[in-house]
Amino acid sequence: MTGPDATTPAEVPIRALDAAEAEARLAELSDILVDAVAHGASVNFMAGFTHAEGREFWRGQLPGIAGGGKRLLVGDGGGRLVGTVLLFFAHQPNAPHRAEVGKMLVLSSYRRRGLGRRLLAAAEAAALDAGRTLLLLDTETGSAGDTLYRRCGWIAVGGIPDHSFTADGRLAEATVFYKALGPHHRCPAASR
Ligand SMILES: CC(C)(COP(=O)(O)OP(=O)(O)OC[C@H]1O[C@@H](n2cnc3c(N)ncnc32)[C@H](O)[C@@H]1OP(=O)(O)O)[C@@H](O)C(=O)NCCC(=O)NCCS
Repeated sequence: MTGPDATTPAEVPIRALDAAEAEARLAELSDILVDAVAHGASVNFMAGFTHAEGREFWRGQLPGIAGGGKRLLVGDGGGRLVGTVLLFFAHQPNAPHRAEVGKMLVLSSYRRRGLGRRLLAAAEAAALDAGRTLLLLDTETGSAGDTLYRRCGWIAVGGIPDHSFTADGRLAEATVFYKALGPHHRCPAASR
């Protein structure tokens, strides 16, 4: 489906997707990633990223999701998936409390209406439920994600110059963030 969905971003339910359902919905997951790259997001891929490559990326996540090393949460717009966030649980014996956040994506037509904030809050809650109390990520300095994480109480450790190429081929800085979780560390709802 490519047209607008009846569900507004504020109403989109957020839920975990298991490996079987993720496999069944690889095309929708791929749509979200392709849309993000096409709109300039720095999410590991370069301009021209295709739906086949998007399906391949998500297919590669399935064993980790099935094995419990990763957890995928989605915004489910009913007829289609409209947002994703992945938790990567650290596997090292000395880091059972740690996880990374990645592929924090909202379909471009659903942005700036609170879905990203809700997805991030859901990821934080899922991490905490899994006993993961320290979250890490990095994102392009100055990007929408950079602002979102700061607004949600993440701590910027610092910037790494020339960390990655942007989708259109410029070297850009990334900011490394962390968040220590606790009951008092929930992502606050938007003030409006
Ligand atoms: C980052 C992203 C997930 C945010 O999703 P979203 O649904 O638009 O986010 P929200 O509407 O919940 O925004 C929450 C807050 O984040 C900040 N924010 C979000 N998008 C922003 C933008 N384009 N510019 C500046 N601030 C932004 C704002 O503070 C916003 O609050 P406000 O709307 O009350 O001002 C979305 O822009 C996206 O998918 N971007 C491409 C992928 C990406 O870069 N992901 C992060 C790195 S993995």
